[in-house]
Amino acid sequence: MSSRESWVSNVGFVLASIGSAAGLGNIWRFPWLTAGNGGSAFLVVYLLIVVGVGVPGLLAEFVLGRRGRQTPIGALRALVSSRWGSALGTFNVLTTLVILSFYSVVGGWILHYALVSPTGAYFGQPQQYFGTASYGLQAVGFHLLFLGIVATIVFFGVSSGIERASKVMLPAVVVLLVALAGWTATQPNTAAGYAFYLRFDAEYLAANFPSVLGPAAGQALFTLSVGSGAMLTYASYLDETASLPRDTLVIAVSNTFIGVLAGLVVIPLLFSQGIDPGQGGPGALFVALPPAFASLPGGTVVATAFFGTVLLAAVTSGINLLETPVATLVDVFDVPRRRATLLVSVLLAATGSGLALAGPIFQFVSGTLADLLLTVGLFAFVVIVGWLLGPEALAEFRAGSGRFDPLAESWLLTVSWVLPVVVLFSLTNTLASLAGASFGLGGRAVVAVVAAICCRLAVAIAVDTRE
Ligand code: PHE
Repeated sequence: MSSRESWVSNVGFVLASIGSAAGLGNIWRFPWLTAGNGGSAFLVVYLLIVVGVGVPGLLAEFVLGRRGRQTPIGALRALVSSRWGSALGTFNVLTTLVILSFYSVVGGWILHYALVSPTGAYFGQPQQYFGTASYGLQAVGFHLLFLGIVATIVFFGVSSGIERASKVMLPAVVVLLVALAGWTATQPNTAAGYAFYLRFDAEYLAANFPSVLGPAAGQALFTLSVGSGAMLTYASYLDETASLPRDTLVIAVSNTFIGVLAGLVVIPLLFSQGIDPGQGGPGALFVALPPAFASLPGGTVVATAFFGTVLLAAVTSGINLLETPVATLVDVFDVPRRRATLLVSVLLAATGSGLALAGPIFQFVSGTLADLLLTVGLFAFVVIVGWLLGPEALAEFRAGSGRFDPLAESWLLTVSWVLPVVVLFSLTNTLASLAGASFGLGGRAVVAVVAAICCRLAVAIAVDTRE
């Protein structure tokens, strides 16, 4: 096998990972989920899950990637077993393919809006405009264009493609978002939006906790890119000098900052138009923002800046999602990178086009299905790190960790005991709600604890019989 690629610098890895995390999840998905789930109530649960589950989970995924030095299939085969490694790794690769299929369709919408913003084409009748742009042949066309941009960068490889692109695109996203948030603050009638977003509403949360939990947990994983093996892949290009805990912290804090910043642009603008953002669903951004842009003289410039920013953020996430299946073909099947990029892109061109033609399926795939796949994926990662690797994972955490070293034990404890139960609880809750189960939160918690114990026993027995 030819020698593996790697990052030129640790900064390159961190920027590419922040680029992966900060994307449509922050700007497109977050506002409509927040608005549909009680605003600040959702924000609080989401932030707690980011800190309590997302951060230790992301660190677990990084540990697996750097320990395995391979894409998911190769890494998990080396660390777990050939059979389980192949199965779980394949599940990861499928997850990235599913996510990128719809991600690229939304990326296409954004690209479309960025291109026509200078003329203000959609300013007049935003609802109608989005209606024709969102699903159908136009959507297919722009999806293919978006995929083409992402594929071109992945085609050039880790250091000359991904690392170089991230170093330019990510800072641009941050600067543009700060400018847009400043502009938003000067707009009329935004006070209700800020209040909805930032004033904590305990009553709403108490009354709606079960229904807020699922989307908040799913979104916390989605936004950190955790659970799909995409971050595992990025960490596989690292060496032992990088401090995984420090990098994870920097990535999570930056991503949350970008997410909250995006909320400070989108949510007040929705309110300034008198639109209930919860009604908009996946179209909220496209239907509700144009009137705000249209209402002032330089509107086309602001609109172009806005959709241009979102496009950059979406591309850097798309890169991570495409890199995972591509690098898998390179690692596991020895396919040359450029041919692998073409092959996977052709597949995604087809699956994404299918979703661009089928609205209702698209909604399910981009919401509930994506949440479920990431949750299951994360469960597998924490089980492997916490229950199977144990001390080996600790050693990987410690390598290069510097002053974060004292946190190693408590991290492993969290990954072994807390995360499996919490992740299973979120999974049970989502599945029970989907199935319309009548038992409440307490019952769901009991199911989760029993399931966690059963899984622990099953893993112990499997390890025993193998030895
Ligand atoms: N985190 C990305 C976003 O918020 C989406 C993503 C999910 C990327 C999973 C990679 C893996 O836009």
